[in-house]
Amino acid sequence: MTEHFDIVLRQGHLLDGDGHPVDLGIRDGVITAIAPRLEATAEHDLDIQGCLISPPFVESHIHLDSALTAGEPRWNQSGTLFEGIQIWGERKRSLTLDSVKQRALEALKLQASHGVQYVRTHADVSEPSLTALKALLDVRETVQDWMTVQVIAFPQDGIYSNVQNEALLEEALKLGADGVGGIPHYELTREDGVRSVHRIFALAQQYDRLIDIHCDEIDDPQSRFLEVVAACALRQAIGHRVTASHTTAFASYDNAYAVKLMGLLRRSRINFIANPLINLTLQGRADSYPKRRGITRVKELWQQGLNVSLGHDCIQDPWYSLGNGNLLDVAHMAIHACHMTGQAEILACYDMVTRNGLQTLGLLPETAQRGSLLCQGQPANLLVLEAPTAFDVIKNRAVVMVSIYGGRLLLRRKPRALYWSLPSPETHGTSDENDKSLGNLSDP
Ligand code: FE2
Repeated sequence: MTEHFDIVLRQGHLLDGDGHPVDLGIRDGVITAIAPRLEATAEHDLDIQGCLISPPFVESHIHLDSALTAGEPRWNQSGTLFEGIQIWGERKRSLTLDSVKQRALEALKLQASHGVQYVRTHADVSEPSLTALKALLDVRETVQDWMTVQVIAFPQDGIYSNVQNEALLEEALKLGADGVGGIPHYELTREDGVRSVHRIFALAQQYDRLIDIHCDEIDDPQSRFLEVVAACALRQAIGHRVTASHTTAFASYDNAYAVKLMGLLRRSRINFIANPLINLTLQGRADSYPKRRGITRVKELWQQGLNVSLGHDCIQDPWYSLGNGNLLDVAHMAIHACHMTGQAEILACYDMVTRNGLQTLGLLPETAQRGSLLCQGQPANLLVLEAPTAFDVIKNRAVVMVSIYGGRLLLRRKPRALYWSLPSPETHGTSDENDKSLGNLSDP
C-alpha cells in the first residue's frame, strides 16, 4: 500500500544506523516511518544518495547580543577576555532594540545555514535599560518557526560589582528569561563570588528557571567556584537543570584537587559547556612558555559519563573577531585541543554539538534519553549532510544539504562540485572532494 508523507528522504545513512541505507518518512512534524524502501508519495521526495541523516546541531553557548560587532568601537588588541569586557562595556552604551534584533537575526540565519536548530544565548543584563535582554526575548518569538532559542540572563559585570545589578538580574527573570546566569570569578572578591552563586540558585528556585553560569573562565588555579556550583546543585538535587560554562581553570587545577572535585561533579550530575575556539584564544594570555591551552577537562568529564556540550561562544565580537556559526569548526577544534583523536572520541565530539547540547538545554525528549533521536515517533528535526558518516562529516566539514525543522523543509543546498582542468582521466570531470558514492541530491 502506498502511503503519503510530507517529506521522504531516500537512501540515506542514519547517524546511529547499521550502515545500510534507508528511506525515512515524515508526516505532521514526526518521523513516521523508516524502512529499507518505502512505498510512498510525498510533497518533497528527496533522493539523498548515501548522505548522512543526523540530528540537528545545537549551539549551547553563544552571545547573540554582541555578535557581529567586532571592531566597534575598537578592536581588541591584547586579545584578552578583560579587554573584551572593557570594549563591550563601551559598545553596549549605544545598543538599541532594533540593532540588537537585526544582528541577532543575522547571526541566527548564519547558524541555521550551518544546520543549527537550537540556540542558547546569553543576554547581558548589566545595563539599566535591559535592551539586549528585551531584544533577544523578542527574537526568541520571531524565529520560533525555524529555530528554538533559550535566553539566559547574564550579569556580565557581576551581580555585586554595582548596586543595581542584582535587581536587574531579577527583573530579567520577571521579563521572561529562560535561565539565570552569573560570573563568580569576575566578582570583586572570592566572598562575593560565592554569594553570587547562592543568589543564582535562590533566584532559579524562586522563578523556576534553568541555571547556566560562566564559571572559572580564567587560568587561575585558585578560582574554585565550580565546587560551589556543584555543591549547590547536589544539595538541591537539580544537577540536570544546571550548567557550568567554560570552567577553564579546571585545566590548571593540580591533579590531587581535580580528582577530589571530579567525585563531587559525578554526584552532582551538572552539565558542562566548553568553548574551544574562545578558550584557546582568550586563555593562556599571561603565560610565557610552556603556554596553557585553557580548555577544561573535556575528555576526563566525558570519560566520567558527565554531559559535555560544545559552544561557539562568540561570532565576530569584542572577544573573537572570527567565526561563522558552524559547529563543525567547534567540534574539529575540540578534537585537537582536548586530545580527542580516537575514533570513539571523535564521534563523542560530534555528540557534543548535537544530542549532548539538547541535554544541556533540557530539551532531549524523554523517549530519546537512552535511544536514538532518529527513530519512529521522534520529532522531525534533522539534517542531511554531504558525507556518509559522522566521522566524514567532521573530517570534511561537510555542508548541510537539507535542514528539516518541525517536519518542514527549512533549507536545501546544491552539492559542492569540483571540476579539474588537468587532462587526467582520474580527475577530469569528477565531482566533490572525498566521496564518489555521493551523487546529486535530486527531487524527482
Ligand atoms: Fe560566554
